[in-house]
Amino acid sequence: MTDTRTDTPIRAAGAAADTGTGYGRSPATHDARLTEVGPGTPMGEALRRHWHPVARSAGLTSDVPHRARLLGEDLIVFRDGQGRPGVVFERCAHRGSSLFYGRIEDDGIRCCYHGWKFDVQGRCLQQACEKDGGLRRGLARQPWYPVEERYGLVFVYMGPPDQKPPLPRYECLEPLGEGESYHTDWLAPGAQVLGLEQDFNWLQIFENAVDPVHAAWLHSNHSGFQFEGTGTTGFPEGYYDHTTAADRTTYHRTAHGVKYTWRYQDTKGPGGGPVDLDWSVECLLPNIIALPDFVRTVPDVRHDMLLWVVPVDDTHHRLVFSLRSADPERASSFVFGIKQNGKNGWELSEEEQQRFPGDYEAQRSQGDITRHSEETLAPSDRGVVMLRRMLRAMVDDVEAGRTPAGVAGPGEPARRVEAGLFTRAGTGSEPSVPAAAPGA
Ligand code: FES
Ligand SMILES: [Fe+2]
Repeated sequence: MTDTRTDTPIRAAGAAADTGTGYGRSPATHDARLTEVGPGTPMGEALRRHWHPVARSAGLTSDVPHRARLLGEDLIVFRDGQGRPGVVFERCAHRGSSLFYGRIEDDGIRCCYHGWKFDVQGRCLQQACEKDGGLRRGLARQPWYPVEERYGLVFVYMGPPDQKPPLPRYECLEPLGEGESYHTDWLAPGAQVLGLEQDFNWLQIFENAVDPVHAAWLHSNHSGFQFEGTGTTGFPEGYYDHTTAADRTTYHRTAHGVKYTWRYQDTKGPGGGPVDLDWSVECLLPNIIALPDFVRTVPDVRHDMLLWVVPVDDTHHRLVFSLRSADPERASSFVFGIKQNGKNGWELSEEEQQRFPGDYEAQRSQGDITRHSEETLAPSDRGVVMLRRMLRAMVDDVEAGRTPAGVAGPGEPARRVEAGLFTRAGTGSEPSVPAAAPGA
């Protein structure tokens, strides 16, 4: 058929239609091997080969037990009257009442329903309603997990008992220097014992740590400068130039994960002259972020903190940190150093969230679990791609019976963390803590 006015053929309806519309798309999916953490899942098994922080030491008293869901398992964390921390299943081994309602005693936790008492390793010490405290109590065992305390945190190991590795040590957290202590408190309601819980998949925030260009857009151009100290004690405003951010950023594999290095120039060199600086953030397998001070940028000092992204289940995680410092302001600037329109995130109305979005709005809105089938990755996602590749290798290793990356061996020395702010060689003063070799 022909249009008689123009002599051009009339196409059948839709033949040249733009197919980029939303109609008829395949159902969206997420990458379960990367994100799902329950028992028996590929990533769940890989994460179970590592220790995870389950509570703050200072917050875990012998007062009451705490619900501490982790890797999709409902757990109770408590400290017995003798000061020993314990992690056990929430459901009582007798007939399933929750030990959340249990009573902590000198040597264990006692279920509210019939008075069975378990120690920190789940051994049944007494069955209150049975003759002589239960002649067969030795047959009852409350499922438990091993714990260790270090860096002001209680760590738990939920993997195969015969594969239990040492709890890794980190140079950035030990030894404590003069006057230093471990700061672990988010200073937020509800975060005193278990850390700060958020309601989306753990990998979304872990990937954010190796996605530096989001700072050049979200935290500056889009929402105004959100890092406290910007232009004064912290980054100069030019740091965030999004037109050059990608060119100034490089990504490196490290001994324990991946890091980015973001180059910028400041006037903080000797005599106030220009100095070239390298800002490096490292993600350590399987779920640790090493984030230097972003409020007071002081070059060439020893790194001082680690932040764990602990999966609660597939759609929740908790943030737990340990920061070694003699300066309480360092800890509070880490906790409160990002503001949205001058406010803390939880103080914003929905309209303010729209006008001044920050990390939570960006990451939470990716979904309970982001839909990987709907992504369109670009060159500036290089760090995300590297991190996913390393996490997939970790999962593959566990499935193949190999020891996955990140698991410590016996006698392993404290690990070097490559995060920090470093003066580039040849400008300003020489770094007292040298940056890692290129490509490390
Ligand atoms: S259910 Fe716990 S003692 Fe009976
Ligand atoms: Fe961010």
